[in-house]
Amino acid sequence: MSTQSHWDKAWGGADPQAKSWFQDAPALSLRLIDDCAIARGEAIIDVGGGASLLVDALMARKFQNISVLDISKAALQSAQARLADRADYIKWLCADATDWTPAHPFRLWHDRAVFHFLTDEADQARYRAIAEEAILPGGYLVMATFALDGPQKCSNLPVVRYDAQSMAATLGPAFKLVDEAREDHTTPGGMVQEFQYCRFLRI
Ligand SMILES: C[S@@+](CC[C@H](N)C(=O)[O-])C[C@H]1O[C@@H](n2cnc3c(N)ncnc32)[C@H](O)[C@@H]1O
Repeated sequence: MSTQSHWDKAWGGADPQAKSWFQDAPALSLRLIDDCAIARGEAIIDVGGGASLLVDALMARKFQNISVLDISKAALQSAQARLADRADYIKWLCADATDWTPAHPFRLWHDRAVFHFLTDEADQARYRAIAEEAILPGGYLVMATFALDGPQKCSNLPVVRYDAQSMAATLGPAFKLVDEAREDHTTPGGMVQEFQYCRFLRI
C-alpha cells in the first residue's frame, strides 16, 4: 500500500480524536513556537499537520500566514470541516513532505510525528533538503518524534526514534539545536508514548 493510501485509510471515516497521536492541547509545540518569538505576519507551516488542533491555536495567536501540509486529503478535509469558515484563512497543501516544492519560504516549520516515519535515508535527505531550502535563515524548525525509549511503531508503521543529539546529526549543520524537551504523551486509549521535541535555528 502506498504511503498516501495508508494515511487516507487511517484518517477516513474515523473520529480524529480517537487517534493515538491526538492531543486536545498541543502545549509543548506551542511553548517551543512561542519561544521563537516570530512576527504574526511571518509564514508558518505545520508539516504532516493532519487534523491537529495546532492550527486552531496558531489562528488564536493571530498568525496570518499559516500553511498545513499533509499527504492525506482525508486528514486535511477533517481539519477543514472542524474549522468550517475559518478554514479559508489557511493554505492547505496535500503533498508528500519528501516530494514537494514550497511556493514561498517559511519562518517557522513544525513537524510532530511525521519525520519519524522516514526510515529510508534517501527520504530523510529529501525532506531535509526541502526544509533547508524553505526555512529562512534565522527561522526555526520545531521537530517532535518518538524518543529513544518511545514506541517502535506508530499507526502500524515502523519509525526511527531520536534523542536531541541524533536528530541534530540527522538534520545536519544547517540546523543548530537551541532547545529540547521530552513529553510523555497519553493516547486516547491510555497508553504513554515518549516524545522528543527539538527546536532548531536555521543558520
Ligand atoms: C502521527 S500523525 C501526526 C499528525 C499531527 N502532526 C499531530 O501531531 O496530531 C502523522 C501525520 O503525517 C501525515 N504524513 C505521513 N507521512 C507523510 C508524508 N510523507 N508527507 C506528508 N504527510 C505525511 C499523516 O497523514 C498524518 O496526518
